[in-house]
Amino acid sequence: MFEYLNDIGKEVGQEQAFYTFDFADILYKLQLWREKLPDVRPYYAVKVNSDPVLLRLFVLVGLSFDCATEGEIRMVVEAGGDPRNIVFAHTFKTPRALKYASSVGVDLMTFDAEEELIKIHEKYPETRLLLRLSPKDIQCAFDLSEKFGCKLDEIHYLLSRAKELNLKVVGVSFHVGALCTEPGSFASTICDTRKVFDEAKKLGFKFTIVDIGGGFFGSTEREKLFHEKDTELKKRPVYFSKLWGQTCCSEDMISKKALLPDLEIGEFIVWQNMGAYSYAVCSTFCAVPLPACKHVFKYDSRLKMDFIPNLEKVVDYLKDKTSLVKNGECDDDYIFSEYMR
Ligand SMILES: Cc1ncc(COP(=O)(O)O)c(C=O)c1O
Repeated sequence: MFEYLNDIGKEVGQEQAFYTFDFADILYKLQLWREKLPDVRPYYAVKVNSDPVLLRLFVLVGLSFDCATEGEIRMVVEAGGDPRNIVFAHTFKTPRALKYASSVGVDLMTFDAEEELIKIHEKYPETRLLLRLSPKDIQCAFDLSEKFGCKLDEIHYLLSRAKELNLKVVGVSFHVGALCTEPGSFASTICDTRKVFDEAKKLGFKFTIVDIGGGFFGSTEREKLFHEKDTELKKRPVYFSKLWGQTCCSEDMISKKALLPDLEIGEFIVWQNMGAYSYAVCSTFCAVPLPACKHVFKYDSRLKMDFIPNLEKVVDYLKDKTSLVKNGECDDDYIFSEYMR
């Protein structure tokens, strides 16, 4: 299953950690989104992983983007993205960032405080705005509600101020917290969103957008850190092991209780579903190099690709940027041409 990783390992040198981006898996997840949530338009949060090859793929398949800073907007623009498909989702923006957003035509952004309204009024009064609401019901690994969002009892004042300043508020945004473990948090925050819509209507606003933020798990195997299906590994006895990163930092512990066999020098550990918030926060402390990145397309018969606009362009891009990883199910050169039928 992971044999192709040996080749990549050799290519990057045995001593360096490396990432592989499986574009087939990423597109399959997008396919699932389209199937399960056809009415929810996905905005990819650039902070999660801003690899330029990935961002370009997302531009080609027609995704929209959630950007937190001017720098992230620039990355999307450099990848060829249309600024009108960006939500500038950090509630506090520097005047310079507002000026930049205005210059390229990003026209949807969030706010949760009067000060921000005043700044927006001065720098970019034409933009459309989403009021960020703080959810009440939080059960998640990373709570964002202390830092972002206003309470329900602040809504009337903020919307009235926006009205006085003649600003275009068009909806509500919220985030129930990263790695949310309680789906009910979405439901209860949507109920509060309804109240904000009602209040907005009374004040003469026409709301049309609910930005449901994020917080979803990207994988069903979230508890399983190590894949134990590797044939050779599997035969060896495993022990609870502490797994340390390479730096000298005493907190650089990757796992306290990883089930691992006695490893040979030069063996790799495969860690699945590590794309989000990992490369983005990598440190070069102790001059440890950043991991190399490799892009692969691991053939997956579940992936249909018929939901993708510009399919021909996307397939050309995949051929150019990824190494194809086959499995027993298909003949090698036919894979991409199959998708073109
Ligand atoms: C405004 C906003 N949108 C989306 C996201 C992405 O959230 P997640 O990775 O939890 O799905 C974040 C994460 O911080 C965020 O702040």
